[in-house]
Amino acid sequence: MSPTHKIAVLPGDGIGPEIIEQAIKVLKAVEQKFNLNFELTYAPMGGAGIDAAGVPLPPETLKLAQESDAVLMGSVGDFKYDTLDPKIRPEQGLLQIRKALGLYANLRPVKGYKCLEHVSTLKPEVVNGIDVMVIRELTGGIYFGQPRAREGSGTQEKAYDTLVYTQPEIERIARIGFESALSRRKKLMSVDKANVLASSQLWRDVVNTVAKDYPDVELSHMYVDNAAMQLILNPKQFDVILTENMFGDILSDEASMLTGSLGMLPSASLGERKANGQRNALYEPSHGSAPQFAGQNKVNPIATILSLAMMLEYSFGYSQAASQIDTAIEQVLEAGYRTFDIMGPGATEVGTAELGDRIAAALLALPAAVAV
Ligand code: NAD
Ligand code: IPM
Ligand code: MN
Repeated sequence: MSPTHKIAVLPGDGIGPEIIEQAIKVLKAVEQKFNLNFELTYAPMGGAGIDAAGVPLPPETLKLAQESDAVLMGSVGDFKYDTLDPKIRPEQGLLQIRKALGLYANLRPVKGYKCLEHVSTLKPEVVNGIDVMVIRELTGGIYFGQPRAREGSGTQEKAYDTLVYTQPEIERIARIGFESALSRRKKLMSVDKANVLASSQLWRDVVNTVAKDYPDVELSHMYVDNAAMQLILNPKQFDVILTENMFGDILSDEASMLTGSLGMLPSASLGERKANGQRNALYEPSHGSAPQFAGQNKVNPIATILSLAMMLEYSFGYSQAASQIDTAIEQVLEAGYRTFDIMGPGATEVGTAELGDRIAAALLALPAAVAV
């Protein structure tokens, strides 16, 4: 019998519960096919945390996450919380769990499926074969810098945030960037705004210093405004993009369009390696809770299912299971079953649940794997 892996499941708000349900269907199929065991414990966070316990990250939810081998999350946020005190908005729960688990490395792979080449708003020849890894620093920068405040009133009112990075914060994410490049096409593009920002000047210096340990990686630097444009002009020039928290938030949503939809973009958020060799890890789609579609069985569950595949690979080393999930998704897409956001001529539009069912069934139908 294989060991039991403890997974904290945090569906969150909006479309979160319905997309998580599809990932769990696929996880059940993985258990059956590969004879694996996952112990799932559900807990509220985001708006669901506010409703259940008055705060977006209830202490019990954090404790569960800390005691689990990995966290699988849906998404947080809903219009109905937009008027709350900003300190207890659902999104704060997400920032708190990232900080509390030390999840400084956010990996957002942008990988196109062949049959979706015509779905992107960009020309097929620009996006075909796209395979870019966006690495976003996740626990520093302007999201967390102090001081930050809103004070005064009337014409005296002002508000400020602080974009701060320390040398160690940059060095550890840079190492993740170089390691990722080494395992891929060995090209690293560090994106900053070093022509203006002091934090970016330190960023560039530290990345250049770390580069000395990775002579096989071809390092380049690009200003973020140019990078935003180059991603649309010629995205295939990129292999790994390494950048700070807010630039990464923006560029990864932009980059998702190379695949056809934000609903296709998964993510893994990883912490430092612990004494037992494991890292704290949270897996979630890169998109949000799309509240306008909540409960309609309409949205694309693939970003969440791919986040599950990342969990199997990064947290548990089940690479075969992860790649078979990818194959199952590809088969279902090739067969023409699509949610509305990735529809094309001749395709059949299905709902969230049917796409989840079809991917789980396709996985079970694949030839038995030699090893997980
Ligand atoms: P969003 O990512 O929820 O949606 C942006 C656009 O993408 C919308 O048009 C939406 O319909 C579409 N989209 C997103 N996911 C999709 C899917 N799976 N299938 C098909 N289409 C999809 O961003 P938003 O509208 O700016 O924010 C909505 C809420 O989500 C806010 O409360 C925001 O704070 C929150 N949010 C949460 C996360 C997270 O939990 N990680 C990330 C981003 C935004
Ligand atoms: C994301 C989201 C979050 C972020 C929000 C909801 C706090 O946009 O995960 O990309 O900005 O990091
Ligand atoms: Mn975002």
